[in-house]
Amino acid sequence: MASVCLLLVGLLVLAAGVVALQKNSDGGETVVMEEEELLGLFEVMDALLEDPSWAEMHPQPCTDTPWPGVQCEISQDPLIFHVTKIHVGPDVLIPPCKANANLPAKSLLKLPYLRTLSIFDCFLTSPVSLSPTLFGAFSSLEHLALESNPSLHGVIPASLGEVANLRILCLSQNNLQGEIPKELGGLGSLEQLDLSYNNLSGEIPVEIGGLKSLTILDISWNGLEGRVPYTLGQLQLLQKVDLGSNRLAGRIPQYLGKLKRLVLLDLSNNFLTGPIPQTLSGMEQLEYLLIQYNPLNTGIPLFIGTFRKLTVLSFSGCGLTGPIPKYFPFLRNLTALSLDKNSLNGIIPPDLGTLPRLDQLNLSQNHLSGELLFPEEFINRLGKRLDVRGNSGLCTSNRLYEKNISLYLSTPACLHSAESSNNKSWAEPQSDDCKKMKPSWEHGIRSSNTPVLNQDLLLPYFFVWFLRFLFLQL
Ligand SMILES: *[C@@H]1O[C@H](CO)[C@@H](O)[C@H](O)[C@H]1NC(C)=O
Ligand SMILES: *[C@@H]1O[C@H](CO)[C@@H](O)[C@H](O)[C@H]1NC(C)=O
Ligand SMILES: *[C@@H]1O[C@H](CO)[C@@H](O)[C@H](O)[C@H]1NC(C)=O
Ligand SMILES: *[C@@H]1O[C@H](CO)[C@@H](O)[C@H](O)[C@H]1NC(C)=O
Ligand SMILES: *[C@@H]1O[C@H](CO)[C@@H](O)[C@H](O)[C@H]1NC(C)=O
Repeated sequence: MASVCLLLVGLLVLAAGVVALQKNSDGGETVVMEEEELLGLFEVMDALLEDPSWAEMHPQPCTDTPWPGVQCEISQDPLIFHVTKIHVGPDVLIPPCKANANLPAKSLLKLPYLRTLSIFDCFLTSPVSLSPTLFGAFSSLEHLALESNPSLHGVIPASLGEVANLRILCLSQNNLQGEIPKELGGLGSLEQLDLSYNNLSGEIPVEIGGLKSLTILDISWNGLEGRVPYTLGQLQLLQKVDLGSNRLAGRIPQYLGKLKRLVLLDLSNNFLTGPIPQTLSGMEQLEYLLIQYNPLNTGIPLFIGTFRKLTVLSFSGCGLTGPIPKYFPFLRNLTALSLDKNSLNGIIPPDLGTLPRLDQLNLSQNHLSGELLFPEEFINRLGKRLDVRGNSGLCTSNRLYEKNISLYLSTPACLHSAESSNNKSWAEPQSDDCKKMKPSWEHGIRSSNTPVLNQDLLLPYFFVWFLRFLFLQL
């Protein structure tokens, strides 16, 4: 084997004078990599890392003196090592990034075989921007991840759109500004685009429809405005779309329903309006539907009941009106349902309490009324994750009232419980806390020491009270 290697080395040395030679431990000579490429790697490491002796410590980074963040691959013709991956992040951060770390375009250009470049938590204080010359048609990058670099600012260079092999582009949690360059639409191989948690502005370019291979789109937590472009409906492979926490406006687009493989749709915290289009029922694989905090001002549509895979549904703060539909108990995989801060009215369907996986149910701050008829097992299972507070017309059964469950539910006992009518034992006052939360008329009833409370007694009571009120006013 050794002799074969040596022979090859000889051939290579003859063929190209650019090959870097290294003395190995036996005193023989062995090929490592091209000199220019090695130099490029040393320069990049020197620009990033605190340790000025990195090159000295890792003279043969592909073989004898490896470093966990650098990977190489051997190419066949000619047989030679190339740097294919550079990763700098908390997991391999010995030495750490230096305070004035930067990304030298000239040096990176010396690494023409680099397929993965990922830099996490590195540019922390000294401002760094992405030079347009860093990228382009020459680049062999397939995976670019620059994440959690607070001092990485400036715009996303349009030249990134020419990196034809790019499959993963992840620039989340930096401080990037400006618009999403429309040129990115040229990345036909791109499978994942994550630009979340930056300061991007302007509209989402319609050219995004060119990203035919895209499965994950996350542009949440920016300042993007305007409408959701119709071209998004062309991206049939999409499984996850997160547009949350921007300033998107207009109606929830109909064409989203074409995304048959979508598992997650997050449109939360925008200015999207209703109605919710019927076409969305096409998203048969949907498991996560997060629309909270949009001014939808509409009813909960019936077709939501066809999303049998739904596990998390949030419509908090959407101005929803009308009743809670009866179909929710058929969504057997629901684990979290948030309908809080709306104007929903009517009763709470008792069957919700039969959902086997439901672990969070927030119905607080609506206009729901009637008796809460959940099984006690369900109420105990959810504990504080069941929130029905702020529905003035809601009451709990006497049974729950006695067990102090109605205390943390902040819901008074029903005067007429469907569960145990004519049960006299409940009327004993339980605690001061409890009294505070009760409508004042109930205290009145208590103090009048009425043993059996029903509607027949209440009416005359109110009448007397009303007369007294009138009298005092005079
Ligand atoms: C975001 O960008 C806008 C200009 O587009 C700027 O005024 C604002 O200060 C930036 N915000 C942050 C947190 O950098
Ligand atoms: C519900 O979840 C389980 C486990 O995650 C899964 O096997 C099942 O297919 C889901 N049901 C539906 C209707 O998707
Ligand atoms: C339920 O929603 C209300 C209103 O949005 C919120 O204040 C409360 O914290 C939520 N409850 C739970 C248990 O998450
Ligand atoms: C309910 O609360 C009151 C006052 O805090 C307490 O005296 C009573 O024992 C409690 N009842 C139950 C069933 O926990
Ligand atoms: C009244 O409530 C108590 C306590 O929950 C229960 O033991 C009793 O059976 C109830 N009586 C009727 C008539 O439902």
